[in-house]
Order: sequence, then structure tokens, then C-alpha cells
Amino acid sequence: MGWNSWNLFRGRVNDEIVRGIADAMVTSGMRDAGYVYVNIDDTWEGESRDANGNITTNNKFPNMRALADYVHSKGLKLGIYSSPGPDTCAGYEGSYGHEEQDARTFAEWGIDYIKYDWCGARTLYSDEEMQAVYQKMGEALLKTGRPIVYSLCQYGRNDVWKWGPDVGGNLWRTTGDISDNWASMTRIGFSQNDLAPYAKPGHWNDPDMLEIGNGGMTNDEYKTHMSLWAILAAPLLAGNDIRNMTPETKAILLNREAIAVDQDKSGIQGKRMWQSGDVEIWVRELSGGARAVGIFNRGPVAKDVTVRWSDLGFKKDPKRIRDLWLKQDIKLNGSEHTTPIPPHGVGFFRVNGK
Ligand code: GLA
Repeated sequence: MGWNSWNLFRGRVNDEIVRGIADAMVTSGMRDAGYVYVNIDDTWEGESRDANGNITTNNKFPNMRALADYVHSKGLKLGIYSSPGPDTCAGYEGSYGHEEQDARTFAEWGIDYIKYDWCGARTLYSDEEMQAVYQKMGEALLKTGRPIVYSLCQYGRNDVWKWGPDVGGNLWRTTGDISDNWASMTRIGFSQNDLAPYAKPGHWNDPDMLEIGNGGMTNDEYKTHMSLWAILAAPLLAGNDIRNMTPETKAILLNREAIAVDQDKSGIQGKRMWQSGDVEIWVRELSGGARAVGIFNRGPVAKDVTVRWSDLGFKKDPKRIRDLWLKQDIKLNGSEHTTPIPPHGVGFFRVNGK
């Protein structure tokens, strides 16, 4: 869990913004809710390497080590970005031919997380060579002796979920880039069902960063985004301006009960258990025999949805469920429960026990 600069700031990210975000991660309660990684995406890199071939920063980032010290002083961790190609997606310096050297530099700076983005490598290597290319950086990171989270970003090519853990990957993107709109978010989120078996503690499917709070979706749509990512056991990397959050955005990103579903220690990714027209019901098994149930209405009109517990794999009808958005317990009686779901909205529940 953390934050990443790309979705909102793109090439405008700089030292001042990252420090401001780090401050706000603390004051807003994001850090204490679990969002600890502050990740600088593309466009921090200098135009050329120094005389010894070391990667440099550009003038937006005068001193990366000092920035890491600052972020660490706030009880947070710092992430960075590079590419196995000579250039990054945005045309900045990549790590090609300098993999070990860059891993060492990142470790010396105090970096805790690296997103390694394929883009600039695709003209050099075939998809079949991808695994070895990612392994090279994975080994280089291990060699530094510093624990660094390794995020593979190659858009889900070549069944990365099958080999991501072997190259040291802690998370791997499963799709192309998300955009801040309903079509993009749902195209990604609802297409993750078949990847469920590959999610494990320490090794996660990554359906890309959150757009919550960036303005392109309604609050109901952002609740769908948060609930779905939680059911998918997905990394929660906020992509908004933490320094200026509306109360609605805060309520979504800081919903502790939704976060608890996402972070459940069993690490089992949820699956689609029922579907009819625009309505999909997804269930995630949680530790201690609990389950999270997401009732999603992908359609443009409100719907009353009736859930039959046996259809979702429940052996016993629950007597009580917890509504994670309304934050209230609901007493039940019988084998079914009917609940209104707004357009593009979600009913998100926790059911304890078998
Ligand atoms: C690719 C990645 C994005 C972002 C940009 C930066 O598109 O998928 O997440 O890192 O590159 O250039």
C-alpha cells in the first residue's frame, strides 16, 4: 500500500511535491492506515549518466538520498522507477547495460521499492527473453542486500503471473494502463477472475494503481474501484493528490474495513461467483473463515439485488453481515438478502464464520 505519482502528476512530479505528499500521508492518516510506500514514477532521471556511468537525477530532484532520508523520517518508504531498456516510457534514461550499477545506486540512495517498466526494452528484446531480463534486475536487487520491493510492469505480457515470483517479483501488472474513467477501471477490474490462483502473500497480481479522488468518476464508482481492488487482493497505490483530498475521497481510501479485506493475511484473491446481466457478485475468502462479498451493479440504473447465500458457496445462511460502506451490522433471517445497489455502485459486505 502506498502512493504513486504517475496517475495525477505525470511528468510534473518533483522533490517538493513528493515531500508534500509524504507530509500529507502522515497528517491525513494514510500512513497509519497502511499506505507506506511513496513511489516516484517516470521522469525523475537525468539526461546522461555521470563519468562513472552512474544514473543521475534531473533538476526536479536535486538530491535523491536527502529525499529518501526525509521520507524515511516520516515513517514512510520511498519507491522509484526504471526500465530494462535504454529509455523509459516517457523517454528518460533506463537501466539497460547498467542493471547492477543502478540497483546499487538505488540501494545507496535508500530506495525501498522499484517499478521496472518494459516500454523501452521492447525494441531490444523479444517477449521470450522477458523473463531473463526481469531476472537480471531481480538478482541485482538481491545482491544489494537491501530489501527492495520489486514491481514488474510489462502490462501482463507473456503470462507474467506464471514466472513473476521466480524472478523475485513481488507484484506484476496484469494489464495496460488504467485511466480515470469507469470504462477503463471496470475493463481492468472485472477481467481479473482467471488470475486468482496466482496471488499469494509476497507475490501479487497488480491491476494498476488507484484513480480514486482524481475526478473522472463518481463517488459510487470510486467505491466500486476500492471494493473491487480489495476483493482482488490488489496492491493499493493511491494515485491522487493526498495534500488536497475531499472528505468523500478520504472516506473511500481510508475505509479501514475495506483495507482490512484487501490486506487480509491469507492473501487469497476473490472470484466472481454469480452473474446476471449487469450484476456481478464476487467473493473473497478471508482468514478465520470469514468472507468478503461485493455485489456490483455495472449498469446505469439502480437495482435491487437478491443474494441467495447458497449460490455464493455458503454452507450456512449468515445471521448477520457487516456493511463495509455504511459501517453497520445487518441482521438477517433466511436464505436470501435483498439490497439496493446504485448505478455503477457496490454493496460491500463482510461475513464472519463459515
Ligand atoms: C507506462 C506504465 C505507467 C507509467 C508510465 C510512465 O505506461 O505502465 O504505469 O509508469 O509508463 O512513463
